[in-house]
Amino acid sequence: MHFTSGDIQSMDTRRRAAFINSLSGFKPANLVGTADANGQTNLAIMSSAVHLGSDPPLLALIVRPGGEERHTLANILATGHYSFNHVTAPLVEAAHQTAARYHRNVSEFDAAGLTAAWRQGFDAPLVAEADIRLGMALREHQHLRINDTHLVIGEIILAEVPDHCLRADGAVDLEEADTVALSGLDTYYRPSTFKRMAYAKPDLQPRVIPAPLAAADAAR
Ligand SMILES: Cc1cc2nc3c(=O)[nH]c(=O)nc-3n(C[C@H](O)[C@H](O)[C@H](O)COP(=O)(O)O)c2cc1C
Repeated sequence: MHFTSGDIQSMDTRRRAAFINSLSGFKPANLVGTADANGQTNLAIMSSAVHLGSDPPLLALIVRPGGEERHTLANILATGHYSFNHVTAPLVEAAHQTAARYHRNVSEFDAAGLTAAWRQGFDAPLVAEADIRLGMALREHQHLRINDTHLVIGEIILAEVPDHCLRADGAVDLEEADTVALSGLDTYYRPSTFKRMAYAKPDLQPRVIPAPLAAADAAR
């Protein structure tokens, strides 16, 4: 199929959302934990986390339009803190349920049967059931005029990763962590490692890191 800009514009709204939402490729699945100024907790699944840079360690997040009725955004702006919690395979159903529009007074932690975990000096809840948990401090917020969405940029000020998921080179092994990936708003994948490649250089051919070496590397 070939789609022109006109074809895309004339699609029915839901069909266009499903189509366009899957075109950026696999996306991360994170539960974003927040609390309001009174400590009322909130949890929402979000797939728009993007790595922005590692020094300082920054992640960006896109929040849909909607002002005050966007509880996650309102809480982030109120406290300056929020958490990212990787969705693992056993958590998919509970995580997906947090997308439902609950009233502000209802915590999605309770609605989805998940547990809020608190850390000293950090004003947002982490998800106790998640294996990889990040504490974020708000660094920049921009309302994007092009489509009324919000760009939220935060610095990772806390990272909790199980020892067995840390590779010798410092990377986190997301397959070992059972972190899932997302397409669109409804399809969850359990990715598996395909290849590891050495750092690309102009004067060298692409070099695959042999699997046994990768395994030995991981064991070190
Ligand atoms: C798979 C999936 C991914 C989502 N990703 C985002 C996202 O990146 N940004 C966003 O604003 N909403 C996203 N949503 C929608 C929110 O989860 C939903 O609007 C939720 O009710 C927001 O909760 P809140 O009002 O408590 O912040 C996603 C929903 C699903 C099912």
